[in-house]
Amino acid sequence: MLNWDDTPSQTPQPHLDTVHAESARKPPPAVSASAPFGTGAQPAAAARKPHRPVVTAAHPGAAGAGGLTGLENLQMGARRLHVDDKQIINCRADLNQLVPFKYTWAWEKYLAACNNHWMPQEIQMAADIALWQDPGGLTEDERTIIKRSLGFFSTADSLVANNLVLAVYRHLTNPECRQYLLRQAFEEAIHTHAYQYCIESLGLDEAEVFNMYREIPSIHDKAAWSLPYTQSLADPDFHTGTPEADQRLLRDLIAFYVVFEGIFFYVGFVQLLSFGRRNKMIGVSEQIQYIMRDESMHMNFGIDVVNQIKIENPQLWTPQFQTEVLEMIGEATDLEIRYAHDTMPRGVLGLNAAQFNEYLKFVANRRCAQIGLKPLYPGADNPFPWMSEVMDLKKEKNFFETRVTEYQTGGALSWD
Ligand SMILES: [Fe+2]
Ligand SMILES: [Fe+2]
Repeated sequence: MLNWDDTPSQTPQPHLDTVHAESARKPPPAVSASAPFGTGAQPAAAARKPHRPVVTAAHPGAAGAGGLTGLENLQMGARRLHVDDKQIINCRADLNQLVPFKYTWAWEKYLAACNNHWMPQEIQMAADIALWQDPGGLTEDERTIIKRSLGFFSTADSLVANNLVLAVYRHLTNPECRQYLLRQAFEEAIHTHAYQYCIESLGLDEAEVFNMYREIPSIHDKAAWSLPYTQSLADPDFHTGTPEADQRLLRDLIAFYVVFEGIFFYVGFVQLLSFGRRNKMIGVSEQIQYIMRDESMHMNFGIDVVNQIKIENPQLWTPQFQTEVLEMIGEATDLEIRYAHDTMPRGVLGLNAAQFNEYLKFVANRRCAQIGLKPLYPGADNPFPWMSEVMDLKKEKNFFETRVTEYQTGGALSWD
């Protein structure tokens, strides 16, 4: 009998690096071309020891235009791949050979993400439905938060997925990273599914919720802020391979992984998890708990990619570019603070907008440190230390003590 449960569990634990769980740890070292930092970035062996490419571009137009895509014509008899042929961007070696591994941090995140697989319909929503339908079950302010959060997230995950598939994937020229991107893209689909499932379960007006990013200014502004970064890369004529183009890619990666998934999600996460802490909307809260675990890994993967690109291409990380990135993070923090005020005009669930001013500055500082920048808001503190407990989701423990308790799974498929 083949039972997946028998598979020995040697999967590395996911690196649930969050502002909360990590707040007590030391920040990573400053930017350096010689030392790895972040959660797994590795020195640029390939950059120091160039090898003859094993695959060349299939058509002259692509020559000198950054990396390969993986769709080039095959060269019979080309030599076997060496690990040092691999590069995270602008790689000219075969992109279809996953091994030998070079970026093991990306492969380990892929394995951990698969181990964390979950599906939205496995979470009980009955208590949420009863509470939502009870006229006195929730206050109007609480209902506003639920609807605004679903409104923001339901299209945000779609934007992230589109950025991955249509903009980023082609330009990350490494099979281990692409393996993770494919897994992440599926997880973004699961997240969109989860929001749709919540909207359907509660009987919300789906047209109203999904259209909020075109109707509610504070939601619109976050989505609109991100779009130019992905539009810039999605142009079919765009290729990496020049300092300006490589910085464009880096800018998009920071916009989506560090800002969008690392700052723009956090007011919604705190708000929705606050319901669960008060034993309200526990199904929605549990969905968010699993989503936040996934998102934490997405963000950490992106941070590793950014730091790896910096290690292999230190010339991109100019003082001017760093200033630009700090400005991006500052703009985004302001937008998220505005979103907090808009969704929470009065204190609710023990939360108020002033706490979010502090919290988002604390989060922004952490994001700066993770990519080797000085803090934008020195001294900002974390008013929500309980978020770190929620982030430590493991199979042994379920924060809300609802039905799903074993989500680190090796799979449940049995041939019997
Ligand atoms: Fe997502
Ligand atoms: Fe994500």
